[in-house]
Amino acid sequence: MKNILVLYYSQSGQLGEILTNLVNPLLEDSNCLVTVQQIEPEESYEFPWDKKDFLQVFPESYLQIPRPNKSIPDAVKNKKYDLIIFGYTVWYLSPSIPINSFLKGDDAQVLLKNTPVITVNGSRNMWILTQEKVKRLLVDCKAELVGNIAFVDRHWNHISVITIVHWMMGGKKTKYLGVFPKPGVSEEDINGAGKFGFIIKKHLFQENFKQLQEELVKDGAVQIKPFLIRSDKSGNHIFSKWSAHIYKVGLKSSKRRAKWLNFFEYYLQFAIWVFVPIVFVIFLLTYLPFYARIKKDIKYYQSVRLR
Ligand SMILES: Cc1cc2nc3c(=O)[nH]c(=O)nc-3n(C[C@H](O)[C@H](O)[C@H](O)COP(=O)(O)O)c2cc1C
Repeated sequence: MKNILVLYYSQSGQLGEILTNLVNPLLEDSNCLVTVQQIEPEESYEFPWDKKDFLQVFPESYLQIPRPNKSIPDAVKNKKYDLIIFGYTVWYLSPSIPINSFLKGDDAQVLLKNTPVITVNGSRNMWILTQEKVKRLLVDCKAELVGNIAFVDRHWNHISVITIVHWMMGGKKTKYLGVFPKPGVSEEDINGAGKFGFIIKKHLFQENFKQLQEELVKDGAVQIKPFLIRSDKSGNHIFSKWSAHIYKVGLKSSKRRAKWLNFFEYYLQFAIWVFVPIVFVIFLLTYLPFYARIKKDIKYYQSVRLR
């Protein structure tokens, strides 16, 4: 009998749906006992978001400052698992606050220590450097990262920016204005997540995860658009400055924090609609000379290694 724990945090339920489909091959196997546990913040984040709250979480989210979560029940915590499937989403190029808080807390130390972990992320498309942050936190918990699967919105970057705002602020995964594509991970990808579950099951019963990631990648588990690596790196550089400043200002005055968050919002619009397209042109112009480096980066970010 194999004990599997599915741990995750999802607001809209999208990631929950992905995980349910993904673990279906394990759920249907009488030799697998699957426990599902949601990570819950003590003070929940309202969904749909209002604009102010959406901006308010930026500094703490990016700077990975933990907030209290509810404890994981003892019945779940005091068990040894053969595999943990860890579902997370990305907030401002970092793990969402509940996920970061979990990974930095005592429960994670108990649950993840010396346990194989597969990360599953459900984001818009900017998850690459967040996964590096998650990898480091998993090392701190002495977990053994054996696999990673990324579920993203596959539409053009700027289209997904527009549609995700409509979803996050309106709460419904519908076509914005009736003409834009549906936001988030496509129904096809959500419904097809089970194909990865079969691969995971095979390696779980072989009791050897060494080739797991390679096989997952072959089946399309981690598709990387090279420009998104560049954007993620630039975004992290810029966010590190803004978040540190806003956080510091906010320690003294919440009014000043609100004012700077307002500036940040304007800056974000400028960055998305002006800065990112310029970086894209530069990226295209320098694509050939950097081709070998880009190839190497893609291979690395598809892997579970940590540089
Ligand atoms: C505050 C906030 C910030 C987000 N920032 C990012 C981001 O930087 N990169 C990204 O790919 N997705 C980002 N997303 C999208 C989430 O990763 C996720 O796909 C979406 O919230 C749906 O997740 P759910 O399953 O929790 O509903 C953000 C979402 C929220 C609410």
